[in-house]
Amino acid sequence: MSHTRKKISVIGAGFVGSTCAHWAASKELGDVVLLDINEGSAKGKALDLFEASPVGGFDSMVTGTADYKDIGGSDIVIVTAGLPRKPGMSRDDLLATNAKIMKACCEGIKEFAPNSTVIVVSNPLDAMAMVAMETLGFPRERVIGMAGVLDGARFRSFIAEATGISVKDINAFVLGGHGDTMVPMPRHCSVGGVPLTEFLSKEKIEELVDRTRKGGAEIVGLLKTGSAYYAPSASAVEMAEAILKDQNRILPCAAYLQGEYGINGMFIGVLCQLGKNGLEKVIEVQLNDEEKAGLENSKQHVEELLTALKKLDY
Ligand code: NAI
Ligand code: 2OP
Repeated sequence: MSHTRKKISVIGAGFVGSTCAHWAASKELGDVVLLDINEGSAKGKALDLFEASPVGGFDSMVTGTADYKDIGGSDIVIVTAGLPRKPGMSRDDLLATNAKIMKACCEGIKEFAPNSTVIVVSNPLDAMAMVAMETLGFPRERVIGMAGVLDGARFRSFIAEATGISVKDINAFVLGGHGDTMVPMPRHCSVGGVPLTEFLSKEKIEELVDRTRKGGAEIVGLLKTGSAYYAPSASAVEMAEAILKDQNRILPCAAYLQGEYGINGMFIGVLCQLGKNGLEKVIEVQLNDEEKAGLENSKQHVEELLTALKKLDY
């Protein structure tokens, strides 16, 4: 095994975790370790993926484990461990169970991969990122939540479908918490650099915004046994790639705010610059009154989650 390759560990070898491993390995981002309390599942999926590498033509070692020692030296750790939503459940219903799981995972990461940058995926996202940050004790540059890339990708795919224009030429993002209060930013959407309003009516844009807000539930409603994983894992791996390759990409992520947008001491979705140090910078966008109100509403929702979290014994 080459010692110059980067190392990406994925905690939780379920649908999102194993698909993260798939994207990361097939993009040759580095060697991949898949960790789960279900050792057989982690080992089996890792071996299966490694056996796909000669066919896919990717040089990435993929291994499975239940032992945190094996994540030692990781550059990036993506945490996907936790329960997903079932129909009728909100992301917030997962709070108590997933807080315990997140804490256990981050204790392992803190001990064996203390220099890694951690990308949190488990829900409810903004609260789980907080549990991760508190357990890890890492600086905010190295604890980042994934939600905005996914929500933005959903919005972008709906815009591409409605306009008939390539997804590659659609730029759009969302702010706020990962939930029904997320704040899509149609004013900042463009198609080939031209404002979206020149392509779609206000009503159509509003319809797509609404579908984006409910994008997670739409998939849960169809799958019935779990939640989305292809777009979520692709999104987490896009963030990992930006950091591993020091791309300095601007991506919407959940960052621990320290006064930006007048918000302090909590994670919420904002535009971030991601490079070799993880979160290089939070980008502050000028908001109009409607966007400010949307972000404030979203912030209040995350605060409620954090209050509920404080009452839990995890
Ligand atoms: P899944 O049920 O397929 O996988 C979860 C895995 O976590 C299972 O393999 C389970 O054995 C493992 N696990 C449970 N406790 C563990 C522990 N203490 N240590 C290590 N592994 C443990 O669920 P799926 O679909 O992969 O979703 C994972 C999480 O990601 C859920 O909380 C889901 O809500 C969240 N999610 C978040 C998104 C976002 O945008 N932030 C998008 C999609 C999913
Ligand atoms: C999603 O948005 C469930 O958070 C997950 O698909």
